[in-house]
Amino acid sequence: MQQVNLGMIGGGTVGSGVFHALQMNGSLMASRLGIRIHIAKVAVKACDEPRPYEIPRSFLTLDWRSVVNDPNVHIVTELVGGTTIARTMVLAALRLRKPVVTANKALLSAHGEELFAAAKQHGTNLYYEASVCGGIPIIKSLREGFVGNRIRQLYGIVNGTCNYILSRMKSEGAEFADVLAEAQSQGYAEADPSLDVDGWDSQHKIGILASLAHGFWVKPQDIYVEGIRHITRADMEFAGKLGYTIKLLGIVKKMAAPAKPRKTDGSRVQVSVYPALIPSAHVLASVSHVFNAVFVRGDVVGDTLFYGRGAGKDATASAVLSDVADAALDLKFGTHHRVPPFVPHELKGSVLPIDEVSSRYYVRLSVVDRPGVMAKIASILGAARIGIMSIIQPEGHEGEIVPLILMIHDAPNGPMRKALEKIARLSVVKAPPVMIRVETFE
Ligand code: NDP
Ligand code: HSE
Repeated sequence: MQQVNLGMIGGGTVGSGVFHALQMNGSLMASRLGIRIHIAKVAVKACDEPRPYEIPRSFLTLDWRSVVNDPNVHIVTELVGGTTIARTMVLAALRLRKPVVTANKALLSAHGEELFAAAKQHGTNLYYEASVCGGIPIIKSLREGFVGNRIRQLYGIVNGTCNYILSRMKSEGAEFADVLAEAQSQGYAEADPSLDVDGWDSQHKIGILASLAHGFWVKPQDIYVEGIRHITRADMEFAGKLGYTIKLLGIVKKMAAPAKPRKTDGSRVQVSVYPALIPSAHVLASVSHVFNAVFVRGDVVGDTLFYGRGAGKDATASAVLSDVADAALDLKFGTHHRVPPFVPHELKGSVLPIDEVSSRYYVRLSVVDRPGVMAKIASILGAARIGIMSIIQPEGHEGEIVPLILMIHDAPNGPMRKALEKIARLSVVKAPPVMIRVETFE
């Protein structure tokens, strides 16, 4: 049987997971692929570092270049993270025409176009299934399974750490900081957890999915991002009473074409990441803890849902192994670009600025409990042509300052933001307004 040698860089959460999974299921993979995948070496930063799964010392090296340059290494995995040394590692392997498998969404978000171009230039391939949603095969599905579809809408819970935090806050009333520490100890969170809780990791992932779905490379700076630090238990409770659950959502929505499109018009797509109130009856509302889910609506297939563990050593290792298998098969059959990493095909496409995106809103104000307050707020919204759907002043709040919840009809983000700035300046409004968008999946 043909043998393919794997050189690994990184033997931490994901890397040791891959090592362990190959020990466990390597023979099964060999019988399925007709190729034996053999781990040649694993480069790490410190040999005595504790790892989720042990990697025998005889495999370890501190010199990643010795892994990439070894002529007996056929495929390289980059499971290090970050955008600096990882970029150097990936480029070094691609220049030697070695296929690279990475789980590094931050790297792809920042340097994807350059790395894909390098893979093409050197006649090799770059695989990245593990970069989005851990064990869920969403990259393969978008590239291959949905190749005959236009993707109308895609909604994703794509960050396990944030979903874990929001779920625990909701179900147990847990405090944000305590739950974040747990997510870190379980290996879900990024080395810098701000990447998770401030929405940047979701930005990286949703940018990759949007690019694959719409055929133009979505730049991270064009994606509107809000994280979950400002979400409070109070908002979770109010949302729950109104029939909603709060989730950090990545949203990719194709806008309807203008009535009289010009030749120069390309597709316009909303690509954003923000916490949203979603109906508690929607299937995404029941996605809890570290689980991820992606809801994809195609023009041929209709609605589909992908669900699974979005982070952690084993789930992510599963995705890495699927890429390693594809790379090994490509080597075996000499088909390096059978499925290219990314094919730009909608060169006029663009991302819609958030101010032009319309949504519904939940707004919580802290106001003085006095007649006439509502009239002042309503007149600002009315002047901006923004309609109020409902107003609730929850009972049982004593004292001068009370919460006021407004549910707002569809309105563009730009006018809504300006109206809220005016409302915040009213003397009867005693704290910065809380605004969370509402997604109804229509
Ligand atoms: P870890 O921090 O657990 O592991 C990083 C590994 O890289 C460690 O083994 C470390 O060595 C090694 N390393 C760091 N610098 C060097 C270097 N200069 N040379 C050689 N090795 C080096 O990270 P994760 O495994 O969690 O993440 C790896 C990648 O996978 C990241 O891009 C992450 O975003 C992505 N990812 C992570 C998921 C998860 O659930 N954790 C899920 C999906 C993707 P040492 O062990 O000695 O410290
Ligand atoms: N930190 C990421 C998450 C890891 O929590 O989803 C998986 O990409």
